[in-house]
Amino acid sequence: MKFFIDTADISAIIKANEMGLVDGVTTNPSLIKKAGRDHEQTIREISSIVSGPISVETLSETAEGMLKEADQYITWGSNIVIKVVMTPEGMKAVRALSSRGIKTNVTLIFSPLQALIAAKSGATYVSPFIGRLDDISQPGMELITQIRQIFDNYDLPTEILAASVRNPVHMLDSALTGADVATVPPETLFQIFKHPLTESGIQKFLEDAKAWA
Ligand code: E4P
Repeated sequence: MKFFIDTADISAIIKANEMGLVDGVTTNPSLIKKAGRDHEQTIREISSIVSGPISVETLSETAEGMLKEADQYITWGSNIVIKVVMTPEGMKAVRALSSRGIKTNVTLIFSPLQALIAAKSGATYVSPFIGRLDDISQPGMELITQIRQIFDNYDLPTEILAASVRNPVHMLDSALTGADVATVPPETLFQIFKHPLTESGIQKFLEDAKAWA
């Protein structure tokens, strides 16, 4: 499973990238707002740090508007993926972008049939939101399981990008279910290193080494 980092925070991206944890980056308008910097400058900077795919979200409600934004975004880096919302207009845009060989990520997927439509439209990635489903007491992970089964049934090449990942259990379940990618906030990514037995094991080895070092 590939690890994408779900942030527009440059210092977090650099830190995770140095650990070899960044196969790609996803952004959305809320993450850009949180980073508090200019959209284009931020994406250009991310693109200069990370060689993997970087998702940049369109804001228009019409396919025509989305395509205009996409034309602009693809000049910001060689690895830009156009993020499009799961709407009829969004699917028109995905179809047009796909026919031009431009990679797309269909976001705000909350049902398996939405994922199937996005895949049939030629999406490179679908982003089912696990955490937001859990938030309304619907099991988010079931969505990933169902999409995996449908895509496997029909050999669909679209990659499943588990999004709205809120904790390491979401990551583990995504990997067990066969998600192709999980996009993860930096804090969650760094949490994986923390295990009390790893920490106490390091202390014990250091203490024992004092006897002979
Ligand atoms: C990533 O592509 C999504 O926009 C993001 O994972 C959403 O996460 P949230 O539900 O925690 O805002």
